[in-house]
Amino acid sequence: MHLFSRPSSWIRKLRKSLYLRFAYDRAAIDAEEDRKLAGFGDIQAATRKLDSVLAACGRGPYDPDRDSVHLLLWSLLSLRHPARRILEIGTFEGEGTRLLARLFPSADITTVELPDDDPLFRTFYRRSTEAEREAFRIKQSRNLDFPNIRLLKANSFFLPALAHGPFDLIWVDGGHLYPEVAWDICNAWHLAAPGGVILFDDVLPDAEARKTDLISPESFEALEYLRARVPGLAIPMFLKRRFPFRGDTLKRTCVAALIKPLDA
Ligand SMILES: C[S@@+](CC[C@H](N)C(=O)[O-])C[C@H]1O[C@@H](n2cnc3c(N)ncnc32)[C@H](O)[C@@H]1O
Repeated sequence: MHLFSRPSSWIRKLRKSLYLRFAYDRAAIDAEEDRKLAGFGDIQAATRKLDSVLAACGRGPYDPDRDSVHLLLWSLLSLRHPARRILEIGTFEGEGTRLLARLFPSADITTVELPDDDPLFRTFYRRSTEAEREAFRIKQSRNLDFPNIRLLKANSFFLPALAHGPFDLIWVDGGHLYPEVAWDICNAWHLAAPGGVILFDDVLPDAEARKTDLISPESFEALEYLRARVPGLAIPMFLKRRFPFRGDTLKRTCVAALIKPLDA
C-alpha cells in the first residue's frame, strides 16, 4: 500500500541507486567542471590562494566535495582582475563576506542582509528565538570586522535606492525563491559594471527539481528569461559540489556565472 500511495518516493530511490551504480562518472564530472573553471583562469594558482585564505580563517583546504565552487570562482576572479567594488546580496553570518575581504583586500565590499524587523528575518536560518538572533548578530559582527566591508541592513527589494553601481563583482545569495530571486537578478544586472561578473548561488537547472523552503528552480527560470533577451549571453552553470548527493541529480545545485556584456 505504501508503495502505491507514495510512488514518487520509491521511484526516486530507485533512480538514485541506478544513477550511482551506472551513471555517476566522477572522472567525467571532474573533467567537465575543470574545463569550465579553466575558462576563468589558472585553477591550481586559484586553489593555492584560496587555501591560504581559508587557512587564515582557521579552515581546512578547499574540498570540491564539501565546499561550494563559488569559493574557487572568487579566487579565480581575484587573480584575473582585482575587483574594486563588490556587492553581496545575502550576508547571513558573514562567513562568505570575510573570505571576500581577504581574497580582494583592496576592494570595497557592500553586503546586504534583512533588517531584524523584516517579516522574513525570524522565519528562517535559525533566528526564531532571541538567543539565536543574539548568536547570529555576534557571529556576523565578528566576521564583518574588516575596514573594507559595509553592511546594509535592508530587504534587497530596496537595493536600487540604497546601493549605487557599478560593481565589478556581484554575489547573488539572498532569497532563492520567487519573488526575491527575480528582483535580485534584475537588480544585480543593472548594478553590475559592463564587463563585471555576477555569480548566482543555488541554481537548480532542471525544471523537474523540487522547490523547498530555501531553494527552487525559480532562479534558473529568471536567468533563462534574461538569457533569452540578451543576444549571445552565456550563463555557464558550475556544479556547486561534486559529491554525488546520493545520485539525486535534481538536488544538485549549481552556481551560475555571467559576464555583463560591455554594450549592455
Ligand atoms: C544563503 S544565506 C547567505 C550566505 C552568505 N552569502 C555566505 O556566503 O555565507 C542567505 C541570506 O540572505 C538573506 N536574505 C533572504 N532574503 C533577503 C532579502 N530579500 N534581502 C536581503 N537579504 C535576504 C537571508 O536572511 C540569509 O541570511
